Amino acid sequence: MSQDSSSRSQRATAPLRLIEGDLALVEKRIAEVIRAREPRLTEIADYLINAGGKRVRPAVALLVFRACGGVDVTDMVDLSVSLELIHTATLLHDDIIDSSDVRRGKDAAPVRFGIADTLVTGDFLFSRAFQVCGRFEENIVRWAADACVQLTEGEILQGRFRRNTAVTEQDYFEIIARKTASLFAVGTRIAAYLAKMPAADVDEMERCGREIGIAFQMIDDVLDIEGDPAKTGKRVGADLIDGNPSLTVVWGLTLPAVRRAFLEEDCGAAAIEEALAALKEGGIATRVREAAVAHATAAAAIIDRLPASSFRDNIRALVCDLVDRQL
Ligand code: IPE
Ligand code: IPE
Ligand code: MG
Ligand code: MG
Repeated sequence: MSQDSSSRSQRATAPLRLIEGDLALVEKRIAEVIRAREPRLTEIADYLINAGGKRVRPAVALLVFRACGGVDVTDMVDLSVSLELIHTATLLHDDIIDSSDVRRGKDAAPVRFGIADTLVTGDFLFSRAFQVCGRFEENIVRWAADACVQLTEGEILQGRFRRNTAVTEQDYFEIIARKTASLFAVGTRIAAYLAKMPAADVDEMERCGREIGIAFQMIDDVLDIEGDPAKTGKRVGADLIDGNPSLTVVWGLTLPAVRRAFLEEDCGAAAIEEALAALKEGGIATRVREAAVAHATAAAAIIDRLPASSFRDNIRALVCDLVDRQL
């Protein structure tokens, strides 16, 4: 295990302790499947994967599986590997789309390796993800493919509203349901299905994952304006600089400084600072946090209906941690 990944595991919060063994299996399998005949693909994938990352999607899916009474984690490990590979692929592509220069505290892959090879490595990881879970029954593969289609729809929909002040709150929620929550939702759906929950409960757990994913992206938007780069590993104000319609930006469009920074490409560091200060002073970040907590609470209400267990307590605690997070 590299130094970066061991410091990540030391950061594991209490809710993850019960699944530490499962997560270690996921890491081991990821290291195996990112091997390719072309070392460049492995180098780029390894560069991002070993730079850290919270492994939230595997953690949520594994805890839900256990909380739903699942015992044999063999299939869940492969599912978790696929979720993390798909997530990693979207990060590689997202850093091209968003022109991000920092990710996980290091140069973003497009900066370090160039756009072309980063793009192909994203495709490689998507393909590997489907190789890993290709042996599953047909509907599981179909659900996973549908989530990937939604991820692409979300990125394109977001692009349509880039520097576009016509964007509404409803547009925002449509974007994040697809670009972020779909992967959480399919993870919890498949976890409940593999734990042999009845169909209605599988649907409920999908809804739970969607609520977690929505809350998670809303907090990501808050961290974009007030996060500590030493913790998030990302640049502050990236959404404003890039004209991304995050919720803080959408709700902040009534503030002249925010509107200007959102609309004007290359508006300069001082204008971005002014917009960030206006968002904080206007209490927008606090409002977004509160709205995220409401979605986390909806997820917790679904979790509370599961049979009592330490896994149920831990997935509930993890959901609380995710809206309280600083990274
Ligand atoms: C970042 O996801 C992209 C979003 C969907 C918000 P994470 O915050 O899970 O990124 P890592 O994996 O921990 O770096
Ligand atoms: C998440 O949105 C996009 C993906 C689903 C990868 P962001 O663009 O906000 O993610 P970060 O902030 O770059 O991690
Ligand atoms: Mg981005
Ligand atoms: Mg972001």
